[in-house]
Amino acid sequence: MKDYNGKIVYITGGSSGIGLATAKMLAQKGAHVAIFARRQQVMEDAIKEISACGCIPDQKFYYDLLDVSIHEDVEKVLQKAVSEFGVPDVLINCVGRAKPHYFAEIPFAQFDETIKIDLYGAWSTCAFLVPLMKRGGYIVNVSSICGFIGVFGYCDYSAAKFGVLGFSEALRGEVKPLGITVSVLCPPATDTPGYAEENKTRPPETTEIEGTAGLMKPEGVAGALIKGMGKGEFMIIPGTEGKFTYVMKRLFPWLVDMVMDGQISSVQKKKAK
Ligand SMILES: NC(=O)c1ccc[n+]([C@@H]2O[C@H](COP(=O)([O-])OP(=O)(O)OC[C@H]3O[C@@H](n4cnc5c(N)ncnc54)[C@H](OP(=O)(O)O)[C@@H]3O)[C@@H](O)[C@H]2O)c1
Repeated sequence: MKDYNGKIVYITGGSSGIGLATAKMLAQKGAHVAIFARRQQVMEDAIKEISACGCIPDQKFYYDLLDVSIHEDVEKVLQKAVSEFGVPDVLINCVGRAKPHYFAEIPFAQFDETIKIDLYGAWSTCAFLVPLMKRGGYIVNVSSICGFIGVFGYCDYSAAKFGVLGFSEALRGEVKPLGITVSVLCPPATDTPGYAEENKTRPPETTEIEGTAGLMKPEGVAGALIKGMGKGEFMIIPGTEGKFTYVMKRLFPWLVDMVMDGQISSVQKKKAK
């Protein structure tokens, strides 16, 4: 995907952080952009920002309230969007949230909610839209570095994001003959409202592990996504450190575990003193 001029793009979670930065960049490239999320006011503010990035005559923008964790609502809201705005050429499933905690402190209700938001959300939008999408269509599902490394403090989130990666890999092969491309975006830690929220509950061991990597800007992640889509890459990993981590995990998984175990143990020794 290189030319977004006049293309219809749907972005779930397009009202904040990485989704919003991507929506603005694609609007600057002439795409008709639709965003979906739960909070009305945040979405109204976002759609103003996105529209201000428009650059072609009659460029269209659209938003609707949607909780992607509710399968029936996804169908209803997307049916309306397809009728009013058109079938998307590009679908970006950017919804996601993490509430890092020790495993023992994660109630089943949080695990259930995380899987529904982070994994079922991508499933439900794809289930409705794939049969409608045309040749040349593009789907991006947003996973995370936690989608290929199980990170301390992210038991539920890693489970969901590994799921997103597996789902995307399987879907890729199925929709390729239909002329639809699938990518999975695995951002590293990125400076967004969602990340700020995570900071409130992150265990110190998790901070120690993540502390070795820099914080990206959402615009940097959006830029890497659009570049990766331009090349049709399946795994899009923004930033040098993220790419390095991926290669290390593939080639030397024992070394990655050893480094993380050392970081965890140093925090736990400090706590025990
Ligand atoms: N920031 C990071 O460090 C980081 C790192 C790796 C991966 N990621 C992934 O990147 C994606 C974007 O993260 P972000 O940090 O940009 O998040 P963010 O700033 O919190 O934005 C999340 C967006 O998703 C929407 N959303 C949340 N739950 C929803 C639901 N159930 N239904 C519909 N919309 C929902 C939010 O709007 P409402 O709350 O109004 O619904 C908002 O538009 C997520 O998939 C996240 O897991 C982020």
